[in-house]
Amino acid sequence: MRYLPMSQIRKDMILGQELYDGKGNMLLPKYTKLTDDHISYIVFQGINGLYIDDSFSKNVEIREVLQPEVRKEALRLIRNLFLRASEGEVLTEPEEDELRLKVESVVTEVLENQDIMYNLLELKTYDDYTYCHSTNVAVVSGVLGAKCCLNRDQLKHLVMAGFLHDIGKVYVDAEIINAPRRLTEQERAKVMDHPRMGYEFLREHYNFPEEVNRCVYEHHEWYNGGGYPCRKKNKDLLFLSRILKVADVYDAMTSNRSYHAAYLPAEVAEYIMARSGMEFDPEVVDVASKEIALYPVGCEVELSSGAHALVVRNHRGYGMRPTIKMLDTGEIIDLSDNRKSWNLTIMRLLM
Ligand SMILES: [Fe+2]
Repeated sequence: MRYLPMSQIRKDMILGQELYDGKGNMLLPKYTKLTDDHISYIVFQGINGLYIDDSFSKNVEIREVLQPEVRKEALRLIRNLFLRASEGEVLTEPEEDELRLKVESVVTEVLENQDIMYNLLELKTYDDYTYCHSTNVAVVSGVLGAKCCLNRDQLKHLVMAGFLHDIGKVYVDAEIINAPRRLTEQERAKVMDHPRMGYEFLREHYNFPEEVNRCVYEHHEWYNGGGYPCRKKNKDLLFLSRILKVADVYDAMTSNRSYHAAYLPAEVAEYIMARSGMEFDPEVVDVASKEIALYPVGCEVELSSGAHALVVRNHRGYGMRPTIKMLDTGEIIDLSDNRKSWNLTIMRLLM
C-alpha cells in the first residue's frame, strides 16, 4: 500500500484502505477500483490523497495505532458530543458510558501497539476537522503518554481529555474559528477563552475526573508561562496537560486549515523541537521526537541524488533515516544502517 496525492490518482487504481467521512460513514470500501466519478467525488470532499494498492508497494504494510473500526466509532461519538454541546445538551447516560468504553479501547490499542510509531497521514475531509482533530489528539496523546510511562488510569484521563479538549469552541462562532484573516482583539479574546469555557461546561454537565477537566483548561498553556488562559507554567501544569499540548499542536499543524496549508510532519517536528523548554515540555518533546514518524510509511520522498523512493519502514529514534524502496530500481535501502548511503539524504516528502 502507498499514499498518493490526488493529482497522481488515476482511474482503475485500487483503494488500499477504507475511506470514511468525518461523520464515520464509509465513503468507499477497501479494494474499490476507482472510477472517474469516485475521483471527482473524493476531490469534492476535500481529501488530498489516498492509500492505493499496487504491485510496487504490495509488501508495504501500514500499521496504525488505532483500528479503522475504533476510529470510526470514536468519530461518531465525538461528533455527537459536540453537536449536543452546541445545542446546550449533554450525552445520555448510555452514550456517556459508550464514550468511556471507547476511551478504554483506545488505551488498550495504544498499549498493545507500542511498537508502532505514530504514522498517521489522516485523510481528512473539509467539514469534519474538529472531530478528526479531537480523535487524533486523543490517540497521539495516548501514544506519547504510554511512552512517558503513565499508568492506565492516567492514560484514560489523558485520552478522554484529548477527545474533549476543544469542547469550549462550541461557544465561539465557527466564522471566527475558521476566519482566514487576522482576528480583532475581541475575537481573539473569545477564542482564547475556549479552554475556560470547555472546563466550565464539563464541570457543570459531566462528572469526569478533575484531572480530565484540568487538562482541557490547560491545553493552551506554555511550559514557560507564555500561554493562555492563566499563564501557568512548568510544574504548575499537569504533566498530562503538557503531553496534550504537544499532541494538539502536532495534529493542528499537520492539518489543512482555512488560514494555513498543512505543514509536513518533519516541519512540525522541527517547530516543536525548536520550542522545547519554551512552548513545550522538553521531556515530552524528547519522547515525541522518537515516536512520531517524520516520513510516514507509504509516502514518496525525493532524495539528494534526485531519485525518488517509497518509505517502507521507520526506525524509532532515527526519524530522518527510514528504510526506503527506490522507485526506479526497486532496491531496498535502510538509511539508518547502510554505511554506503551515508551521503544519501531525504530532501522532501511528496504529498
Ligand atoms: Fe484548543
